[in-house]
This record gives sequence, structure tokens and C-alpha cells, in this order.
Amino acid sequence: MAESGFVKVAEIGELPHGQMKQVQLGQEELCLANVDGSFYVIADTCTHSMGPLSKGQLDGEQVECPLHGAIFSVITGECVGPPADESVSAHEGRISGQDIMVGPAKS
Ligand code: FES
Repeated sequence: MAESGFVKVAEIGELPHGQMKQVQLGQEELCLANVDGSFYVIADTCTHSMGPLSKGQLDGEQVECPLHGAIFSVITGECVGPPADESVSAHEGRISGQDIMVGPAKS
């Protein structure tokens, strides 16, 4: 792990605007999203029934789960649409050169 606690998970060129990608941080599967050139990271596992959010639809800053349509903010991880009713964790993200770095979950 990098000294700052941030780990490279992807490079900027891998993820065009409006796209998402599953990345690994240790044992954790995360959903990395590019919203208008800003990168956000939330847990990739839907709190309803473990759907992979990175395989869902990204609409602005909201992702729709591919299984049953729950909606989460990729910025905060907040659940904003049913059937899920619990939020997912959100992680700090930062850019270093061409690298997308992810840090620990925000508290
Ligand atoms: S698993 Fe995500 S809405 Fe059901």
C-alpha cells in the first residue's frame, strides 16, 4: 500500500466520461465511476442483494443497480432509490499523474 494509504487502482485513460469499472482494493470490490472527468469510488456490492453496481447504469452521479434497480449516489454512496434501503461505503479518490488512487472508506 502506498505511504499515504492511497493505492493505484486504474489509469485515467481506462475510464471515459460516464463509464464505470470494477476495481479491487485488497479484498474489497469497488465501483470506480467517471462523472464529467471527476472520479468517484463506492463499494461495488449493492446492499439489497449484492448486485454488482459497476455493471449497472450510470446517469449523472447516480448508478442504478443492474439486478433490481436500486439507485445510489456514486459520490456519497447514499441509497436514493429502492428496493435497497442501506447506503454503500464511499472511498476517497485522488489523481496522481495519470493514476487513479483510492484511499480508505470515508467515515
Ligand atoms: S441487488 Fe441491487 S437492487 Fe437488488
